[in-house]
Amino acid sequence: MSFRLPARTLWQASPKFATIPRISSQAPSWRRHYAVSTDETRTAIVTGSARGIGKSIALRLAQDGYDVCINDIEANKSIADDVVKEIQSLGRKSFAYTADVSNLSEVQGLVQASVSELGPLTTMVANAGIAQVKALLDLTEQDLKRMFEVNVYGVYNCYSTAAKQMISQGHGGKLVAAASIVAFKPFALLAHYSASKWAVRGMTQAFAMEMAEHKITVNAYAPGIVGTAMWDLIDEKLGEKTGAKKGDTITKYSNELIALGRTSVPEDVSGVVSFLCGKDSDYMTGQTIVIDGGIIFT
Ligand SMILES: NC(=O)c1ccc[n+]([C@@H]2O[C@H](COP(=O)([O-])OP(=O)(O)OC[C@H]3O[C@@H](n4cnc5c(N)ncnc54)[C@H](O)[C@@H]3O)[C@@H](O)[C@H]2O)c1
Repeated sequence: MSFRLPARTLWQASPKFATIPRISSQAPSWRRHYAVSTDETRTAIVTGSARGIGKSIALRLAQDGYDVCINDIEANKSIADDVVKEIQSLGRKSFAYTADVSNLSEVQGLVQASVSELGPLTTMVANAGIAQVKALLDLTEQDLKRMFEVNVYGVYNCYSTAAKQMISQGHGGKLVAAASIVAFKPFALLAHYSASKWAVRGMTQAFAMEMAEHKITVNAYAPGIVGTAMWDLIDEKLGEKTGAKKGDTITKYSNELIALGRTSVPEDVSGVVSFLCGKDSDYMTGQTIVIDGGIIFT
């Protein structure tokens, strides 16, 4: 015996569904357009971009068509200048500006310099950060203070100064910051670093709420284990605690923790940051996106 459904859909079967007025999909006018017009030259500041993930982001944004201000601390001035040359060779404008992101007046100088050299600011990538491997009960007041000065105050200084500039320009913008997978689940011996990245995630959500009316979106990226100078240090210091040889800890973590089975490279991260800075993420705000090859699942 066969049982056949009549060839009609649910809404055809129930006339009352057909008469329900369509709910307008139009958002209030201030919500409709977040994007910075792509007709204008787009400019970005990338902090901590003399090396590592920040350098990769700066180069990727230059390839995407941005003019890019490179920032780092004085000790990395010469490698920052090398990144500037690489970007100029791609046909984009670039210059390097030394500033410590933990110092508000230096960040104000950075934003002013970028606007006067490159034009209106469309994107701020607050990438600079530091890590330290130390047991919670061994932390000094200074350890905790410096971690939060760079990783938390640094992001606040960059977000707030860039936001004020973008609001004065009146065309919205993009604020993006470096969090980490430890913003979701801390690593032992990286406790104050983990707490600082939780703060970046929280501040990203809070800024997203208050910046929405100015057409500024605010998102963060959360890398996993990326083979940069920062992980060289973490590998070495964790090895001192456990007796592992240099390079063994990152290899062990990569093999045992990462579903995709390899250590991340900066380009894994910069591709996602390109998306967060670009038009295709215009309807996203307050998010922290994990790029870790499958260590934690959100
Ligand atoms: N490497 C990883 O596995 C990993 C994982 C998760 C998150 N992150 C985050 O990504 C960001 C970049 O990390 P990375 O691996 O490229 O590190 P890195 O140490 O290779 O590069 C960081 C850069 O930031 C600069 N910097 C440090 N303090 C600064 C300050 N006060 N002002 C301006 N610049 C400063 C450094 O000089 C350096 O050039 C950091 O915020 C880091 O916490 C890295």
